[in-house]
Amino acid sequence: MVSEMGTEVEAVQWLNGALTLLDQRCLPQQEVYLTCTDVAAVATAIQKMVVRGAPAIGIAAAYGVVLAAKQRYWQAAEEWQYHIDQDLTLLAQSRPTAVNLFWAIARMRERIKHIGGDDPVHRLLHEAESIHHEDNQANRCMGELGARLITASCNVLTHCNAGALATGGYGTALGVIRCAFRLKKIHQVYADETRPWLQGSRLTAWELLRDNIPVTLLADGAASYLMKQGNIGWVIVGADRIAANGDVANKIGTLGLAVNARYHGVKFMVVAPTSTVDLSLSHGDAIPIEHRPAAEVLTLGGESVAATGAQAWNPAFDITPAALIDAIVTEKGVIESPDQNKTMALMQNEVYLPQN
Ligand code: MRU
Repeated sequence: MVSEMGTEVEAVQWLNGALTLLDQRCLPQQEVYLTCTDVAAVATAIQKMVVRGAPAIGIAAAYGVVLAAKQRYWQAAEEWQYHIDQDLTLLAQSRPTAVNLFWAIARMRERIKHIGGDDPVHRLLHEAESIHHEDNQANRCMGELGARLITASCNVLTHCNAGALATGGYGTALGVIRCAFRLKKIHQVYADETRPWLQGSRLTAWELLRDNIPVTLLADGAASYLMKQGNIGWVIVGADRIAANGDVANKIGTLGLAVNARYHGVKFMVVAPTSTVDLSLSHGDAIPIEHRPAAEVLTLGGESVAATGAQAWNPAFDITPAALIDAIVTEKGVIESPDQNKTMALMQNEVYLPQN
């Protein structure tokens, strides 16, 4: 499918009164679309990673609220606002780390509070579509802002998938890469395969190649040696939650990249909309980290690869301290060498835009 605003894929779509999701577990082998007609199906799709990536999870949840309202209003028009609360709780329980989920639910909840006794569906759908559209616009803006930071033509390294698949379109980290590549500021994109879910080799590679951007994959453990070769200018990643002091939760392995980048003199850029910033948490250690089933580490493509009896530790995210981050790019502007004062100022609209 080709989006109105670009050639990149649409992972989340509202079609014929239901939520259609590109099942990201099947990529790149198969392009399978899954239709969710009730809120429970949306919560399950988020939990099982049919849809993944912080902004996309939030957008899917917002449409999930529309489906919940439809059902609750149809069941009991006078009491739907009371009963929908349990649906919002169900959605909030689907995954713990990406704050965009809770941000989108809170925004839909606020909208619910201000709807009177009328049929709520079209008003909530309008809100969900606004969340979706605003995310797409934010990504295009961040793409340009992030590309401005790349002053000399270079190679870049990304991790996980922070692209159109993970957002309302265009992508965060991949939005910057898309924009900088078109401006001929990037020679070569390297992508970590990103064990255990292989978002890099399955999703990022698929998405970039579809957009005619060449990509070279590497095993996660090879990133340090790649940086030592001296030809990487920037590591560019997305985020699942950014604390008030600029600490960043992102896909497991991001912290290792940031440590390596600093050691090797490589710049480190985080690209995320302000819906990913959580000012209620003063620092990254307070961010809840999702731990996923051991089977994801012990198996590959459904086949057991580990010695029988081995256990596995499987945190899905880690925290990169602000001190290791050169720039956080948001749609409101760029924070260089982030800290609490700069994050607060940005969220209060005191924006700083790089010049070149
Ligand atoms: O477990 P996932 O695939 O949902 O993790 C996704 C990431 O860590 C992304 O980097 C992050 O959500 C940013 S997506 C624009």
